[in-house]
Amino acid sequence: MSNYQTGFGNHFATEAVKGALPVGRNSPQRPAYGLYAEQFSTTAFTAPRAENRRSWLYRLRPAASHPPFEPFDMAPRLISAPLHGGAVNPNRLRWSPLAIPDAPTDWLDGLTSYAVNGDVGTGAGIGVHLYAANCSMNRRAAQFSDGELLIVPQQGALAIITELGRMDVPPGHIALIPRGMRFSVTLDGPSRGYVCENYGAPFRLPDLGPIGSNGLANPRDFETPVAWFEDRDGEYELIQKFQGHLWRTVLDHSPFDVVAWHGNSAPCRFDLARFNTIGTVSFDHPDPSIFTVLTSPSDQPGTANCDFVIFPPRWMVAEDTFRPPWFHRNVMSEFMGLIHGIYDAKEGGGFEPGGASLHNQMNGHGPDADSAKKAMEAKLAPVKLDDTLAFMFESRWVLRPAPTAMSAPELQGDYDDCWSGFPKAELP
Ligand SMILES: [Fe+2]
Repeated sequence: MSNYQTGFGNHFATEAVKGALPVGRNSPQRPAYGLYAEQFSTTAFTAPRAENRRSWLYRLRPAASHPPFEPFDMAPRLISAPLHGGAVNPNRLRWSPLAIPDAPTDWLDGLTSYAVNGDVGTGAGIGVHLYAANCSMNRRAAQFSDGELLIVPQQGALAIITELGRMDVPPGHIALIPRGMRFSVTLDGPSRGYVCENYGAPFRLPDLGPIGSNGLANPRDFETPVAWFEDRDGEYELIQKFQGHLWRTVLDHSPFDVVAWHGNSAPCRFDLARFNTIGTVSFDHPDPSIFTVLTSPSDQPGTANCDFVIFPPRWMVAEDTFRPPWFHRNVMSEFMGLIHGIYDAKEGGGFEPGGASLHNQMNGHGPDADSAKKAMEAKLAPVKLDDTLAFMFESRWVLRPAPTAMSAPELQGDYDDCWSGFPKAELP
């Protein structure tokens, strides 16, 4: 039996114990086995039906059953917007990969913020964090009340236990965890990756317009876990991120005690290899929005709070076309990472798997001089880009780099050099 249910945002129904899930109602007077019924809402009750997200959980104890949260000092590595103070550096920035730590570091302790925008208080913008970790969260769970998490592993497979079930998330997959859902991350070795903490509207599939009813990320390829629970007493630490600060409490039982659930606010995973990549078969490649996997809309139509965009393996067949991602200045701000291989705009090196770059609003970027020269001189024939998987978190608001990222040893001081040495165009 599969451990997953398929489809994006479906109304799922699953029970780990036969008869635990009520039929025909959400909140019976006495749910089966004395379970507690609890609604989990990640959109307002009155959100339009097509956008409404909520699930009903049937659990051993209500999630409300815990002592007060106390301030927990893990900062300043993990921060939130708004970030006050000082000018925002407009320069193109690039970071080498984080080293895997020597000291025991779990997924939560291993998070480091790189950039933030918007405001957790008003529910707009994103936080971009990277993680480098080497051990599992041991009787420890996290709850990110400030936003939904999009997790992009780069090295090391994650096993993510959530209140609604367990997901295996190796590199090449992504995971989505709803705002406020409790989860714990188990590692299989040294691990590294990226996180987009989405303060805004939940990620959804983009509209396809003239592409039609299929293509890009297809809904059936998203996988949501079936119900799984542990009946386990004893101390269990719960760390909550709330309005940019961390808080801690200790439960006397595992928070993963949901025996059955139904609804459409649920974690899911997606194998990026299943992305149906679409590109030109004539000339000029489309804007990179053609590679959008998921989008978090803002209140301005077509102008995303965040788009999650990938640059996967694909054929390049365009005739009379400059094939790498073109030179660009963009009102949207772009944070990029590399999961494996080489990104076709940075063949000159420096953008490594596990590394990152930030090209903020209206600041010029594009292929490095080596890549551009090669592309302009190439004899054009169909070419397969095989070993490549880059991605972008693209946001309508300027991404303010985190102070720790600006002082990190991984920050490359010579990034601008990759755009030096372009020969001047010669007019007749
Ligand atoms: Fe760009």
